[in-house]
Parts: sequence; C-alpha cells; structure tokens
Amino acid sequence: MTVETESNSINVAIFSTAEEASREVARRIAGAVNRRPDGVLGLATGGTPVTAYQALIGMYRDGKVDFSNIRTFNLDEYIGLPPDHPQSFRHFMDQQLFQSINVDPERTFVPDGLASDVAQACSQYEAMIRDAGGIDLQLLGIGHNGHIAFNEPGSAADSRTRQVALTDETIENNARFFESIDQVPRHAITMGIGTILEAREIVLLALGEGKAEAVAKMVHGPITEQHPASLLRRHRNVTAVLDAAAARRLA
Ligand code: PGA
Repeated sequence: MTVETESNSINVAIFSTAEEASREVARRIAGAVNRRPDGVLGLATGGTPVTAYQALIGMYRDGKVDFSNIRTFNLDEYIGLPPDHPQSFRHFMDQQLFQSINVDPERTFVPDGLASDVAQACSQYEAMIRDAGGIDLQLLGIGHNGHIAFNEPGSAADSRTRQVALTDETIENNARFFESIDQVPRHAITMGIGTILEAREIVLLALGEGKAEAVAKMVHGPITEQHPASLLRRHRNVTAVLDAAAARRLA
C-alpha cells in the first residue's frame, strides 16, 4: 500500500502479525546485502528489531545471506555506558545479532558512549559513514513521540550526529531495560535526521498498538520537526513495515 501525501509518499507494508512484519524486514536487509555484499547497513536497537534480527540470523544459518564484507553503523548509543554494559547498544548488537552472524567485528560501528571529546567523536562517526560510501539501507524504529534514533521532537531536519538530551518520556520508556529509572542515562549520541535521510533506502519497523498513533502522524500528519518521523516523507525510498496493530490508525 502506498499512502500519497501532499508533499511526498511513504510506502506502507502491513502484515497481520509482528512475526511476519519482522520476517519482511529481515528479507529486506538480506536483499540489500545480497545486492551489494560489500555494502553498508544502518542498524537500530530497542525491543522492536529483536525478532527481525532473529529472522536474519536464521537466514544466515540457512546460507541465504553472507555478511563477511558488510560494514554496519548503528544509530545511537547512551553516553556514559561502556561497551560491555548490559544496557549499552554496543552490547545489545553483539548479543542480538553480531555474535550470531559472520560480520567482521572490526567492521561494526556504534557511537562511542565513553568518548572524552563527544563532538569530535560525532564528526568522526559522520566521516566514517561518508568514507564507507554512505548507508545503503537504514533500519529504524519509531518512538511513541515520533522520535527516530534519539532525535527527539524539535530536532532539526538537517541535524547531524551529535550529543542529545533524552526526553523524560524516552527515559521512562527505556527504564524497563534498567534496574531503576535512575540508572537510565540522560544523554546519548545519535545520528542526526540529516544523516539518516542520506541513506539510500530506509526501512522503519513499528509493531504493536502503542505505536499506532505515532505511525499515523508520521504518514498522515504535518511534516514537522515536532514529529521527527514525519520528516522521512522527504525521502524518496522509505518503507514503513507494520503489523496490523501499529497500522490500526491509518486511513
Ligand atoms: P522500541 O524503541 O523498539 O524499544 O519500542 C523504538 C524507538 O524508540 O525508536
């Protein structure tokens, strides 16, 4: 299904279950790798992509995809968490995907949450993406408030990789992964919206009724920095892969 909007269109693919939507995302990622085996993937963390990564691991084990020459860049990382911290996004990626496929660990990149000079680490991250030839396929989730990566409402459409403060809502949402809310970092490094929009293809996965309103605003609402995901409509090749619950409020 393609939803036409006043400015641009976003492709929407709806599946009855989260499992099927996740399999579709895995197929799309594997497809990008098979088209360009030395290409660049942009990857995401959170509860949403876990099943898609499991499906991707299954495809790898079945010999359907080879990650040996791929490079990966993750969207974001908490500031202050070391790479081996159980809630760091580096740790998440190692556990949920990288350790179970044949990607070269040296070719997987996550922003450095312990960088002593954060601004320098951010511009270096941008340079590494550029030097790798840019991102072929970027996977995204969506926050209840419309954030993409940690670009919270109000983030500039042309923002680049930088340090950001997390909103109270995001801290509360992410507290479920920590022992207590006090342990959730208040700051993160995130790719910017401008960085994300430079990917050649974007696949946004949203699952569950809790995301339905954010998805509807992304597709039908005004294109505004107040709902960062709506800015994806300025991109030519975005697909929102949804389960039925997340699609419930679409026209
Ligand atoms: P979630 O996070 O997958 O844990 O819901 C998505 C996001 O905030 O981008």
